[in-house]
Amino acid sequence: MRYFRPEIAAMAGYTPGEQPETADVIKLNTNENPYRCSPAVDEAIGEAVARGLNKYPDPTAGAFRRQAAEVLGVGPEWILCGNGSDDVLTIVTRALVGAGQLLRLPYPSYVLYTTLAEIQGARSEQVHFQPDWSLPEAFAAGGPELKLVFLPNPNSPSGTMVPPDAILRLAERLPCPLLVDEAYADFAETNCMSLVRQCERVMVSRSLSKSYALAGLRFGYLVAQPHLIAEFAKVKDSYNCDTLAIAGATAALADQAWLAQNRAHIVATRQRLTSDARRLGFETVDSQANFTWNPHPEQPVKPMFDELRRRGILVRYMDYPGWGDGLRITVGTDDHIDACLDALARMV
Ligand SMILES: Cc1ncc(COP(=O)(O)O)c(C=O)c1O
Repeated sequence: MRYFRPEIAAMAGYTPGEQPETADVIKLNTNENPYRCSPAVDEAIGEAVARGLNKYPDPTAGAFRRQAAEVLGVGPEWILCGNGSDDVLTIVTRALVGAGQLLRLPYPSYVLYTTLAEIQGARSEQVHFQPDWSLPEAFAAGGPELKLVFLPNPNSPSGTMVPPDAILRLAERLPCPLLVDEAYADFAETNCMSLVRQCERVMVSRSLSKSYALAGLRFGYLVAQPHLIAEFAKVKDSYNCDTLAIAGATAALADQAWLAQNRAHIVATRQRLTSDARRLGFETVDSQANFTWNPHPEQPVKPMFDELRRRGILVRYMDYPGWGDGLRITVGTDDHIDACLDALARMV
């Protein structure tokens, strides 16, 4: 490992959720949407292929930014596109957090944030959520080394939310930007988009992977005040979104009727998953996302995860030292959720 920067040699690297090569499993482990995307997406990608891929894509994904601007009620200059929202998180971290500086995140939440800090040779500070999944005072503490704060909202694995008014108060106290990671916000009752105008330090990232059923396309975006977007644009790869992704993502955002219908279906299934899991004795947390967090107060859940796996049902087992473990179950089709609940009913 002598060729590598010490920070890279020392880090473990982020491990994404399992993506089996066979389609012969019930996949409830990485919060994908179980349904096909809007047909308008297939059509737009087909048209882009027909036009040919010999030219580079638009480096700033202007067509998408104009479409998103219309949906979100901001100007296109407030939007930066990425190859999935993970790319946006990487760009923001690279631009704001230098070696030895500090990045903050809540715990338990999205582990990738700590990996992004490690790549920078920066430090990360994990501030524990309170038992009711609200943020403690310490999350708003200042300090000269603090350069970026991440807050997934809704959070993963809990699916819980910090209300926007509390987030605005938090941002006003912090000395640095606050990135509200809204990968799951389309499934929630509220979001922080309007705060971006009110407070320079609030930035919002969104993903098309979950609510638009496009995890395979890789597209996400950041909304922030234009002078910040201009700085982040210096850091991104020149052509970080490809022609097919731009075409598909633009068509997806244009079809808001598809989004509303899909969301309603996922929310209804989520409600059923929540109440049925509680009937099985899980302490299922009320979720605003497309998954639920299911600790069990009496029985170990790791053997349940293993048994589900043996039966071809993949969920996510998470064990958070100092917090506890549980099963994170993605809201799948009604049939897939029934199969998962039936299997669990035989184990509890
Ligand atoms: C909280 C959170 N943020 C961001 C992402 C990344 O999403 P994308 O597929 O847009 O990179 C995920 C993916 O699981 C997530 O859970």
